[in-house]
Amino acid sequence: MIVLGIETSCDETAAAIVTDDRRIMGNVIYSQLDEHKAFGGVVPEIAARAHLDILEDVIRRTLAEADMTVADLDGIAATSGPGLIGGVIVGAVTAKAMAATRNLPFVAVNHLEGHALTARLTDDVAFPYLLLLVSGGHCQFLTVTAPGRYTLMGGTVDDAVGEAFDKCAKMMGLGFPGGPAVEAAARTGDAKRFAFPRPMKGRAGCDMSFSGLKTSVRKAILDLPGESLSASDAADIAASFQAAVADVLADRCAHAIAEFDEKHPDGKTLVIAGGVAANTALREKLTGLCALVGFRCVVPPPALCTDNGAMIAWAGVERLRLGLTNDLDFAPRPRWPLAELEGVSP
Ligand code: KG4
Ligand code: ZN
Repeated sequence: MIVLGIETSCDETAAAIVTDDRRIMGNVIYSQLDEHKAFGGVVPEIAARAHLDILEDVIRRTLAEADMTVADLDGIAATSGPGLIGGVIVGAVTAKAMAATRNLPFVAVNHLEGHALTARLTDDVAFPYLLLLVSGGHCQFLTVTAPGRYTLMGGTVDDAVGEAFDKCAKMMGLGFPGGPAVEAAARTGDAKRFAFPRPMKGRAGCDMSFSGLKTSVRKAILDLPGESLSASDAADIAASFQAAVADVLADRCAHAIAEFDEKHPDGKTLVIAGGVAANTALREKLTGLCALVGFRCVVPPPALCTDNGAMIAWAGVERLRLGLTNDLDFAPRPRWPLAELEGVSP
């Protein structure tokens, strides 16, 4: 089975072709960074227009990379929510048009499910598993029992962790996108210089909170003398912030693992997914934690943690295999929680 996946929910215009035996045949990502940089964040209207301009070319390049034509495909999958709705519509309508003209099945993929299932493309991961989903807008622990079957265990009560990275980077003048900029700055910084708080650490359950940490970073910046932040101060703040995030996530993961293990003693796997999972320091910290408690920690390679078409194509494969296709009148959804997905009956 060969599926084309299209991703247009934020500022990456991406497409990929993936097979059901887990080969990525073509994978093209066009990042709209330059279009949005001057605004310090993603501008939805600009993103939608850029997707419209570039998507056809991205799909053509993906087919060329795979050395295939549309006739080789068994299905077309596209992110159909959640995300910036203008971009989502561009991708979904393109996929529907291709499916209609070629009489192929269309799969409306939930972007978060794309992240959630990527580990099954890159590694041998069986259901059930514990998922820590950490992206720009989402920050949750979920139990994953099948495609379309997600149980929310806990999540952030305020900011998503990716959002905290982005906002802190902005305050430090490190630019956009914030996560990679903070990680790069942190490499030369002193993680012990600023004693930032560890919100929710030790609390029962596995909810999270990051807005207090963000406020502490703002205060630390304001308390420093001088008009602008020196590179070494920025590095120390970045390193101290990242260490606080890692500490909090490790604590919250320990709680989530205990809870998951009680219900699914055969699971023993933590999957980390979403853009923030590209962070090396976090990957190392959580891998270490898992080793201590006898869990396997699976994190896809960084390029498959941040938004890409392969994750959407793979979610398409997983759904097609179960006969889960969508009608062409499927309405793209700006908001679409994983817990509202449809799967097959257990
Ligand atoms: O999954 P993703 O690419 O897009 C969404 O679905 O939101 O996640 C983007 C988020 C952004 O907040 C970005 O700053 C963060 O992931 N991110 C990182 C890193 N790379 C991306 N955060 C920390 N360290 C990184 N290396
Ligand atoms: Zn994403």
